[in-house]
Amino acid sequence: MERKMLPRVTIFSTMTVDGKIASKTGYSKLSCIHDLERLHRLRSSHDAVMVGANTVLVDDPQLTLRHVSGKQPTRIVVDALLKTPSRAKVYRQPPKTFIITFKGNVVEALKKYPGIEVIGVPYKFDDILDLEDALSRLYMNGIRTVLVEGGGYLNWTLFKLRLVDELRVTISPYVFGGNRVCLVSGDGFDGYVERAELLLRKIERCECGNEVHLVYDVKK
Ligand SMILES: NC(=O)c1ccc[n+]([C@@H]2O[C@H](COP(=O)([O-])OP(=O)(O)OC[C@H]3O[C@@H](n4cnc5c(N)ncnc54)[C@H](OP(=O)(O)O)[C@@H]3O)[C@@H](O)[C@H]2O)c1
Repeated sequence: MERKMLPRVTIFSTMTVDGKIASKTGYSKLSCIHDLERLHRLRSSHDAVMVGANTVLVDDPQLTLRHVSGKQPTRIVVDALLKTPSRAKVYRQPPKTFIITFKGNVVEALKKYPGIEVIGVPYKFDDILDLEDALSRLYMNGIRTVLVEGGGYLNWTLFKLRLVDELRVTISPYVFGGNRVCLVSGDGFDGYVERAELLLRKIERCECGNEVHLVYDVKK
């Protein structure tokens, strides 16, 4: 069987020491200014940035370059049920945005989000869209590198589908506690038969002196 050509997928996340990417009230501003610059440098070196629907609902991010100059990456929102509002910043301002949704929702998506590119794909597992299919279609649209910026559920589905090449995580000096969204949420692996295995490639002490940035390759 011919292997599909896929973009290289890097997940970037900033989490608390106890692995949370948001607090119980949804607060998620965990990066210092140096970490924000690191994130924006990474954005500028990727063809596209990708987020899940809840991140758009909670944070309403622009996903543009502001802390460094360079080429604005294309934005990608994974929203199977089209729950993100059409007034969200990712849909209102340039650059280009793609929505990845369930194939049965394509017609509705084209109506709800005028001017936005829509990619419809089937489900691979119960609640998980076939993001391999979506990534191969993005590759055909010239996208060779994707920076995934969360949240935890999107990160989980990409690990579950074995589509992650690199994980970059900044550990921010807070503890949030509780059972809110973590770096990789969803059902989780059993840990014995199935898990994701990583190889540590780099450890950087952040310029702020109080955060650590770790870079891992994901074993395929
Ligand atoms: N600290 C950080 O670096 C950071 C970064 C990003 C986000 N966050 C925080 O994380 C929280 C959001 O994370 P989250 O885990 O709740 O949500 P999320 O991953 O942003 O979005 C989850 C939603 O996206 C859709 N989705 C994503 N992948 C899918 C797939 N493969 N198949 C089908 N649907 C898929 C589903 O929407 P449908 O219901 O439409 O199917 C799902 O309900 C927010 O509080 C945000 O502030 C923190």
